Amino acid sequence: MQSSISDSLIEWYKTNKRDLPWRNTADPYIIWISEIILQQTRVVQGLEYFNRFITRFPDVLSLANAEEDEVLRYWQGLGYYSRARNLHAAAKDIQKRFNGIFPDRYEDVRSLKGIGDYTAAAICSFAYKMPYAVLDGNVYRVLSRLLAIETAIDTPAGKKIFYEAAASLLDKKHPDTYNQAIMELGALQCTPQQPDCNKCPLISIFLAHEKGIEKDFPHKQGKTKIKERFFNYFYIRNKTSVWIHKRTGNDIWKNLFELPLIETEKPLSLTELQQTETYKKLFTGINKIEISAPAFQAKHVLSHRIIYATFYTVNIDSPETGLSEYLQIEDSEIDNFAVSRLTLRFLEHLYS
Ligand code: ADE
Repeated sequence: MQSSISDSLIEWYKTNKRDLPWRNTADPYIIWISEIILQQTRVVQGLEYFNRFITRFPDVLSLANAEEDEVLRYWQGLGYYSRARNLHAAAKDIQKRFNGIFPDRYEDVRSLKGIGDYTAAAICSFAYKMPYAVLDGNVYRVLSRLLAIETAIDTPAGKKIFYEAAASLLDKKHPDTYNQAIMELGALQCTPQQPDCNKCPLISIFLAHEKGIEKDFPHKQGKTKIKERFFNYFYIRNKTSVWIHKRTGNDIWKNLFELPLIETEKPLSLTELQQTETYKKLFTGINKIEISAPAFQAKHVLSHRIIYATFYTVNIDSPETGLSEYLQIEDSEIDNFAVSRLTLRFLEHLYS
């Protein structure tokens, strides 16, 4: 059973796979970068970032020796920036603990920052042909439909059952091709909404298909509640000067730049905003302030949050005390800073 499943999958993969650059290498560093990019990014978008990243940082040491700001700039627009910070930290760790050579023991790979079970299994199987089964969203979907597993994937019991199923189906002679193949089937054919079952190499043994209920799989216990946040940004100008700041603290977009921000508990009108202490503090000591209706409004959706953002353009007569905590730059310089995707949306709107 196991070998007929893997033979059919691998045969299907050989004629249907996409030609992707990280599939033509056994370099663990290159595979690592591709897997981190692909964690939360679609292949089409990820490809361009991957090529640029690998050209600038072709190996562990070039990444380890770079400044974090530069690494973040290469990530700009991809979102989930902790991925880039973790890559950088892990490269430094490899430099220190493993003399700059990417480790080749599963436990060492798994011990690196930002590398979880999935990524460690992907790197060890693709680069070293070690028998570790990958388990990502695509694989959960394929396995749940193939074996009609009803246990929810977001429960400890589900994790255990799927892990065991994945391990027992793994082709231990060709773990690299088998892992790529099962993920590719999930990405191309066994898709969430419109599975193309007629072209499926495993159609005859897909238990859920027999009952016509494949779209009901995988089962999930519950969705996490989405938190709403309200961001009011100020694009403050004095001639060609503008002000930005670097986000710090344990929050989204850590170490990325953005415009001066006032976050509120609920949506506020400009008049209400102007009565808050933070607004007064921001504009302390400035005599003449021109501010009018929002220049741009956006609903920005992240994994567990929705940010309702309002951007105001503000012209001031002179830079004064309230802004001393911010970095004053020339407006043309802003491209040199790694900014959040939301800030980029505003800048694109401004210059469009
Ligand atoms: N998604 C995650 N890893 C991938 C890979 N190696 N190829 C294509 N898509 C992927």
